Amino acid sequence: MAKFPVINLEKLNGERAATMDLIKDACENWGFFEVLNHGIPYEFMDRVESLTREHYKKCTEQRFKELVASKALEGLQAEVTDMDWESTFYLRHLPESNMAEIPDLTDEHRKVMKEFALKLEKLAEELLDLLCENLGLEKGYLKKAFYGAKGPTFGTKVSNYPPCPTPDKIKGLRAHTDAGGIILLFQDPQVGGLQLLKDGEWVDVPPLRHSIVINLGDQLEVITNGKYKSVEHRVIAQTDGARMSIASFYSPGSDAVIYPAPALVEKEEEEEKKGLYPKFVFEEYMKLYGVLKFQAKEPRFEAMKAREATA
Ligand SMILES: [Fe+2]
Repeated sequence: MAKFPVINLEKLNGERAATMDLIKDACENWGFFEVLNHGIPYEFMDRVESLTREHYKKCTEQRFKELVASKALEGLQAEVTDMDWESTFYLRHLPESNMAEIPDLTDEHRKVMKEFALKLEKLAEELLDLLCENLGLEKGYLKKAFYGAKGPTFGTKVSNYPPCPTPDKIKGLRAHTDAGGIILLFQDPQVGGLQLLKDGEWVDVPPLRHSIVINLGDQLEVITNGKYKSVEHRVIAQTDGARMSIASFYSPGSDAVIYPAPALVEKEEEEEKKGLYPKFVFEEYMKLYGVLKFQAKEPRFEAMKAREATA
């Protein structure tokens, strides 16, 4: 099996064509890749990591232990399929921040996460333009496709996966594809567990200090007319070590209309209307995703197509 793609973005200066090819191959064949020298200072990432760990220890670890006790998740005998072994909270940045409403964050933590979000937003937009270039779309096409009336939706899910005594009975996070656009993940540099499905096999996404893991969500699959795929992934809880995961989701605005880019639709597909992908308002897709997250993406696309036909 080919090696998980790790791409040094610094090589865009000097070895641009080869680096663009690596990104293209990763988008076409993996739906995932990891980037280094992505422009976010490594010392800054260390600060994000230590604040995240402190916050977990101080504010959420106890709550998670209580949840485990109340749901009797310790010493499981049978597999649990309707819950995950994860402790999370969600920060929304765009269109409006909810940061002020999040309890227990110190002022410094709030400030650092705000700055981190700005850096990630910039990186997401740079990556979208690299994708445009590889797809033969004009610069800014994907950003514009996501924009809607008020700009993109952007948020961060901060997760911790504490050590789990029975990882064969409960997943850290059950298999799913991401609904949104492009996802940027700052994952634990030591404790692994994230896997993606490639050619029917689960493949590890290797922990790598200071990297950002990138994956493509359902909306990019639709806009690229399936040239790029939104790939299934999951987190296996570990018996040793607490895994930290900070995943940021750069997605369309709620009223953005999502559909395959005309330049990527073959003539016959258009004429015979046999394309696979629907046209819809992003918010409508999210309503469906809310109830069908842990199911395959295809029925979601089908359901949106059926609505489009009756609209
Ligand atoms: Fe995900």
